[in-house]
Amino acid sequence: YTAEIDASDIEKGTYPHYMLKEIDEQPLVMRKIIQAYQNENNELHIDEPIVGAMKEADRIYIIAAGTSYHAGLVGKQFIEKSAGIPVEVHVASEFNYNMPLLSEKPLFIFISQSGETADSRAVLVQVKEMGHKALTITNVAGSTLSREADYTLLLHAGPEIAVASTKAYTAQLAVLAILAHVTGQSCGTVQDFDLIQELGIVATAMEALCDTKEEFEEIAREYLSTTRNCFFIGRSLDFYVGLEGSLKLKEISYIQAEGFAGGELKHGTIALIEEGTPVVALATQEAVNLSIRGNVKEVVARGANPCIISMKGLEDEEDRFVIPEVNPMLTPLISVIPLQLISYYAALHRDCDVDKPRNLAKSVTVE
Ligand code: AGP
Repeated sequence: YTAEIDASDIEKGTYPHYMLKEIDEQPLVMRKIIQAYQNENNELHIDEPIVGAMKEADRIYIIAAGTSYHAGLVGKQFIEKSAGIPVEVHVASEFNYNMPLLSEKPLFIFISQSGETADSRAVLVQVKEMGHKALTITNVAGSTLSREADYTLLLHAGPEIAVASTKAYTAQLAVLAILAHVTGQSCGTVQDFDLIQELGIVATAMEALCDTKEEFEEIAREYLSTTRNCFFIGRSLDFYVGLEGSLKLKEISYIQAEGFAGGELKHGTIALIEEGTPVVALATQEAVNLSIRGNVKEVVARGANPCIISMKGLEDEEDRFVIPEVNPMLTPLISVIPLQLISYYAALHRDCDVDKPRNLAKSVTVE
């Protein structure tokens, strides 16, 4: 099977790299997704068999790799908070050989940009053999993971060419938010929340961020031009975005980068902080705003060079960048954009091959 790709869709145009083009496409992708998942009454809609399968499940298992796994971590929060169904998120390659005890009525959700990741497919084959239902969330209609699952939800992100995934991640988050929301509405656990409007606000905020690229180029120059390592810290949703930020940075700039939960620092990681170590801290969640700022103080006291990225309404004068305000649940959709752009410029400043980093392939079809 060959997926159909429209050649005009995959040209770089005036962009120097696909990655930058794909970062810039994110507001448009948001709007496409809002459209694609609306019915004739302008309400968000997911086909009934999928919502039915979600509601029947006593536990959902999200299986994915890399960036898609990071999207799954956020998706778990969406589903548990909106629909009240317990969710586990697993790295496909681990689940494969070390399957946990399953619940009685599991539903498997595979998240994969390409729909071809071999580690995820191996799990799909196993769980189908066991007679379980599977839903694939993918960017590629007709991909293996889509064909072999019971249900598919498409990302509508358009072809993603750069090895570093950007617009597929935010598209995955948007589709997961819609899935959680529609399921929640059907369960009666979500009322009076206008997700279409909130995603519209996200798209506008994304545009604003994409229009301030110079800021992120400057941050990359200042913090990452010569460093050997970099840490990302955050709490709750910000922790998951930090994991994605660190993956982005390491894969294209080859800077050793790690994401940590702010509260875990004191349990070991803080030993790595030296004079000048860049620490990117995300502060977009009100409930943990004080505690993450406390963590920043701890690393600064050990010589770190902090770069706090906060959200409007929670900002402080020490912050390096303030992202526009969006619904607190949806912050990962926009807080990731500064991290994508900082990684992009760090890779450029370090003369790395942005679109085709060493040792990596766009889709990993071997286990
Ligand atoms: C992300 O930037 C990566 N290149 C990689 O982690 C990727 O997300 C992973 O290989 C999973 O791919 P998939 O979404 O196509 O399954």
